[in-house]
Amino acid sequence: MAGHELFALAGKRGYVTGAGSGLGRAIALGLAEAGAAVVVSDINLATAEEVARTIQANGGLARAVRTDIARKDEVEALVRTTVEQFDGLDFAFNNAGMLKIVKPEELSEEDWRTELDVDLTGVFLCCQAAGRHMIAHGGGKIINTASISGLVVNSGLTYSSAKAGVIQLTRVLAYRWAKHKVYVNCFSPGYIRTNMTAPHLQRPEVEQEMLRQTPLRRLGEARDLVGPALFLASAASDYVTGQNLIVDGGVTLA
Ligand SMILES: NC(=O)c1ccc[n+]([C@@H]2O[C@H](COP(=O)([O-])OP(=O)(O)OC[C@H]3O[C@@H](n4cnc5c(N)ncnc54)[C@H](O)[C@@H]3O)[C@@H](O)[C@H]2O)c1
Repeated sequence: MAGHELFALAGKRGYVTGAGSGLGRAIALGLAEAGAAVVVSDINLATAEEVARTIQANGGLARAVRTDIARKDEVEALVRTTVEQFDGLDFAFNNAGMLKIVKPEELSEEDWRTELDVDLTGVFLCCQAAGRHMIAHGGGKIINTASISGLVVNSGLTYSSAKAGVIQLTRVLAYRWAKHKVYVNCFSPGYIRTNMTAPHLQRPEVEQEMLRQTPLRRLGEARDLVGPALFLASAASDYVTGQNLIVDGGVTLA
């Protein structure tokens, strides 16, 4: 891809979790197009393999790996495999997440724990495994997918609590690991058309309400996250750490 050299990722190596679908898929394809070698990771191996094949067919470097981010052993295996396959780890894109909306007064403890395990603990496990490697090898870039639901009230209790946690986890790790040249940033998408939002968007009144809340007057597409992803994974963001880049068409302005 022709582009400014600050955004070039030739020779860079890393992984994207939740890369079989939606934002993660678009981000993995975008990073590979910018020259990166990408481990395409998802709990659903078949979708990860499809994305890896697409990257390879476009002349890029990719491998597919099945990872449940809620499992420490699988997350550690993901970091190990990326390092083994591509001889290093320059970026770690912790994007996988789940969403289940239940009224707070009806939410079971089990549902609370299950979602928190993925949306917050999973991101922590990925940050820790990738961060340990980066600390020992001269640094790197960690990018977490948070959400505007970590900032405003527009979604489920567990999801929103987890995403607020991801934003602050990002800030704490950025502060602690800056001396190791480990950058930690996150971004917060607004309303984006993916498999996660599809069941909600089937209701026209929900889509209308999302549009009403969005000053740019369109819902986001997964490709809207590619530019922010390239910025945060590349040298273009070399003086940026601990930040939450909001990519929401202006929803959180009002
Ligand atoms: N779509 C939106 O409007 C929106 C808005 C804000 C934030 N986000 C966040 O963006 C990220 C990606 O969501 P999306 O919209 O692309 O959804 P998606 O459902 O299209 O993709 C999520 C992917 O994560 C994978 N996944 C789920 N649980 C996993 C686990 N335990 N381990 C590994 N992989 C797992 C799924 O298999 C799927 O491929 C999520 O963190 C989500 O919370 C999405």
